Amino acid sequence: EKGGHKHFMAKEIHEQPAVLADCLKTYISNNAITLPEPFDFTGIDRIIMVACGTAHIACTVAKYWFEQLARLPVEVDIASEFRYREPPIQTRTATIFVSQSGETADTLAALRYCKDKAQSVLSVVNVPESSIARESDVSFPIHAGVEVGVASTKAFTNQLAVLMSLAITAARQRGAIDAAREAELVGQFAHVPGLINQALGLSGHISDLSRKLATASDILFLGRGSMYPMAHEGALKLKEISYIHAEAYASGELKHGPIALVEETLPVVVLAPRDALFDKTVSNMQEVMARKGMVLLVSDAAGITQAGDDVWATIQMPDVDPIFAPLVYVVPAQLLAYHTAVHKGTDVDQPRNLAKSVTVE
Ligand code: M6R
Repeated sequence: EKGGHKHFMAKEIHEQPAVLADCLKTYISNNAITLPEPFDFTGIDRIIMVACGTAHIACTVAKYWFEQLARLPVEVDIASEFRYREPPIQTRTATIFVSQSGETADTLAALRYCKDKAQSVLSVVNVPESSIARESDVSFPIHAGVEVGVASTKAFTNQLAVLMSLAITAARQRGAIDAAREAELVGQFAHVPGLINQALGLSGHISDLSRKLATASDILFLGRGSMYPMAHEGALKLKEISYIHAEAYASGELKHGPIALVEETLPVVVLAPRDALFDKTVSNMQEVMARKGMVLLVSDAAGITQAGDDVWATIQMPDVDPIFAPLVYVVPAQLLAYHTAVHKGTDVDQPRNLAKSVTVE
């Protein structure tokens, strides 16, 4: 049942190229995005996205996509904060609730709060017959298949894929991109399962590096742009299954506080594809290295060359268009957490104190 893997989590990490390709089959045809159910993004002025845990992190990635591609303002909130804050919902607002299980109590309550207030209530779910799917106006399935590991992996990746499909659709409908740009984006999108497959090939190397991480008491994750939420994803996965304290920071925030933590024993994982912000990230990394922090740089070949020899270790990723980078850089974040937990000998699939689906507050 674990398909030859030691844990469901490993099986689910390795299933990602296949389940993502399955999902894309539903959302792509003829070089364009085709939603399984139509939705009109021209009648709204803003989006509010609400979720918990990893699904909330997927929303924070999607905010970059909706804003950058469709020029639509997006607010993202944690369901337990949103529901009790009782925020005003302006007209011409679409709300999007993201949940693997579709049964998370706080997310469902937040959805019900929006039902008679928002112009539309959308959901992105893995379980099509779930409460969240049933109670939304339109529900978009992520087709990840059953996810057993408490640490969400393939569901996160497919949530990102569906949210990217919605962002591209919104961009087209609102005239922010033309058909040629959409075809170009969709062409790159279709390559992502192959790039994830390449990243999975780094598992042995990541396992070697994780032996050292397993001895750390704290680990810092840094990223800029859409890599900032990915830093959160890396830190969350690591905390959940290895019980090592980890924190994520936007690279630019380093000197506003967390740099005080840096010393020889602190691993600092830097998620940095060579994008427009890369030079700035390199200078943040140098600040860490000047204080003897152990930088683990996750970047492509050009980025690793540019970073120089002072980094503690590197994970060399395939080249990927920066807009799709979260879908590929999630893999080393998952594998670092997985192998670190395996080296520590923790219960990877059933971490202490956690449940797969949080159906009570
Ligand atoms: O079923 P949901 O997507 O609504 O669950 C939300 C969170 O409980 C979930 O993502 C949790 O954070 C995972 N264990 C993270 O790996």
